[in-house]
Amino acid sequence: MSAHTVIVTGGAGGVGRALVGRLLDEGRTVVTCDIDEAGLKSLADEHDGRPLETHVRDIASHEDCDAFMDAVLAAHPDVDGLVNNAGLYLGQPVWEYDDETIDRVIGVNIKGPVWLSRRFAGHLLPAERRGAIVNLASVAGEVGSSDALYGTVKAGVIGLTKSNAMNFAPYIRVNVVSPGLIVRTAIADRIPDYRYAEYKRQELLDGDILPEYVADVCAYLLSDRSRTLTGALLRADNGCYPR
Ligand SMILES: NC(=O)c1ccc[n+]([C@@H]2O[C@H](COP(=O)([O-])OP(=O)(O)OC[C@H]3O[C@@H](n4cnc5c(N)ncnc54)[C@H](O)[C@@H]3O)[C@@H](O)[C@H]2O)c1
Repeated sequence: MSAHTVIVTGGAGGVGRALVGRLLDEGRTVVTCDIDEAGLKSLADEHDGRPLETHVRDIASHEDCDAFMDAVLAAHPDVDGLVNNAGLYLGQPVWEYDDETIDRVIGVNIKGPVWLSRRFAGHLLPAERRGAIVNLASVAGEVGSSDALYGTVKAGVIGLTKSNAMNFAPYIRVNVVSPGLIVRTAIADRIPDYRYAEYKRQELLDGDILPEYVADVCAYLLSDRSRTLTGALLRADNGCYPR
């Protein structure tokens, strides 16, 4: 069964925002959280009257993740989709990281998805209900990154995906999307110029990767059309760094 009520983290901007619109267009109910309160307000205004719920929450906080999931599960016990989309990329070399920043990058990109996936599965599995989780990794997690922390956590997201696919089988499918350079996102604005040019040079296909195109792949993985996939990595990268 395709997911009908879907949690999307980081819905205020970029891929998350495009995905929220896409899922609403498909007639699904969407619950999103983000730290960007103004962005959530404009998202809610844009989709006024549609089945969208927004929460200001920081997924790097265990307390926030629990409070968010408490609210979601109380209001939407039928929830059957989770997209761990929110991510943090600082675009800096490893020697510029202090311990607090390392913890923050791990918190947003790894701990949040772990906590949310666990609560989601803990809700569905005892009832033997079907569902789908989609995680957002990156080409950086496959071939490395000029930001070593980002390359590390995105490789971790791929490992988390495959491992949770085993943990949550046979009821919850868990898959991962690995995008290349997505233009018109806050993250793309932070990529150093030389790396931006390298990514563009590596792409086999012409045209830019828009947030909507990555949202298409996420929507596919939430739908029945991907019913045979779990533990799978799908790329949205214009063929950059074939691997
Ligand atoms: N933009 C790219 O080029 C690119 C490439 C590969 C992978 N990705 C990955 O794709 C996903 C989406 O990226 P994007 O480009 O749309 O990013 P973005 O920065 O445009 O949007 C991310 C959203 O997540 C929110 N967010 C950040 N930290 C949060 C937190 N702690 N709690 C809740 N919300 C938080 C932000 O406020 C923002 O609305 C991320 O996981 C990212 O790492 C992006």
